Amino acid sequence: MPLATRPLAPTVPNDLEAFWVPFTPNRAFKKNPRLIARAKDMHYYTVDGKAVMDGSAGMWCCNAGHNRDPIVAAIQQQAAELDYPPAFQFSHPKAFELASRIAALAPGDLDHVFFCNSGSEAVDTALKVALAYNNVRGEASRVRLIGRERGYHGVGFGGISVGGIVANRKMFGTALAGVDHLPHTYNREQQAFTKGEPEWGARLADDLDRLVALHDASTIAAVIVEPMSGSTGVLPPPKGYLQRLRQICDKHGILLIFDEVITGFGRLGTAFAAERYGVIPDMITFAKGVTSGTVPMAGVIVRKGIYDAFMRGPEHVIELFHGYTYSAHPLACAAGIATLDVYRDEDLFGRAAKLEGKWADAAMSLKGTPGVLDIRTLGLVAAIDLSSRPDAFGKRAYDSMEKAFHEHGLMFRITGDTIALSPPLIISENEIGEIFEKVGKVIRQVN
Ligand SMILES: Cc1ncc(COP(=O)(O)O)c(C=O)c1O
Repeated sequence: MPLATRPLAPTVPNDLEAFWVPFTPNRAFKKNPRLIARAKDMHYYTVDGKAVMDGSAGMWCCNAGHNRDPIVAAIQQQAAELDYPPAFQFSHPKAFELASRIAALAPGDLDHVFFCNSGSEAVDTALKVALAYNNVRGEASRVRLIGRERGYHGVGFGGISVGGIVANRKMFGTALAGVDHLPHTYNREQQAFTKGEPEWGARLADDLDRLVALHDASTIAAVIVEPMSGSTGVLPPPKGYLQRLRQICDKHGILLIFDEVITGFGRLGTAFAAERYGVIPDMITFAKGVTSGTVPMAGVIVRKGIYDAFMRGPEHVIELFHGYTYSAHPLACAAGIATLDVYRDEDLFGRAAKLEGKWADAAMSLKGTPGVLDIRTLGLVAAIDLSSRPDAFGKRAYDSMEKAFHEHGLMFRITGDTIALSPPLIISENEIGEIFEKVGKVIRQVN
């Protein structure tokens, strides 16, 4: 019997108090914890051995599915071979190999990769590179950063500043000064129950011209957006929006950063969303899918012209004063190389593209279910907005997540009263049907 499916002696820890669970209502969780002991392919297994279908690739990470043999073997071998070399002034061969492989996947002249350990670090790195680049190219007055409402860029001070989620910002002071925001692109009246990119909304990119008129281009370093906002409820970009944003950035000499922490590595049917939309940003941040969630790893892919601008001055002097102790950690690099092999050998990005139609149809089959206000799909992503209970925003979705996990053997993510689905890219057509059948049952139960 495979390890993952072997029945387990219950291993609920005696003390749930010490661990402060992140982004989680701790008291509710500790009353009825959702504890996972093992995983294999499309499934998690709880501590008492129950199978749970993974409808969210963990947290948008495990695109290759769980505990894949070649990735596990690569990590084990690397752990036995080289644990850790200094990340500054020294390196190791697999760091260069993985960087070349990622650069080859990225479009255009996005040729150089700076490694970090989380999406939040990747975002802060990209923002710092934007500021430093403007400095080295003699435009040091460009210090303003532009994000977008309903954007999520992690939890560092840079990320929460350009991010557009009030709950993530309001407790933490003003964070970075000199930040402004574009409007978000969601409009239910215009786009409810649209599959893929909505027709309406490209003109919202023109708001960047308004911000330029307000602040002057000479003060603006960069614009950062998720090609598809994920964590605030899956907001696909309106048709033409990202292209328009690129044009306006070019017109004013503003760098464009795509935060592809979620959309990178096949989620939308291409290696990066930049490829799907035919738009080459100046930097791409990535994380999660690069190692299919197995070892923390993230980074920023930078266009050649930006990298080259730093490669001046005396050769013994550090060009960018930035980096992390665990940048390009050997375990993460080994996991990343093995993961990219699986993506290539199984054509998982192509598989996501092929399944997109079937996925969207299955999601839209829930239209008309009581309490469903909107459904959005893009690539292998879907969001279902539920009507909120009076005075209990978010409770209906929270209940649906609990019921799905404990009673239906299904995991998905929630944000507010939205259910978000983003399965591993190895999902089969039958499993797509199974997921939405279960989601439908759960929604009817919590109505
Ligand atoms: C678009 C985006 N950027 C950044 C992050 C932050 O990544 P991490 O949690 O690895 O710091 C996330 C996490 O979901 C994300 O979706």
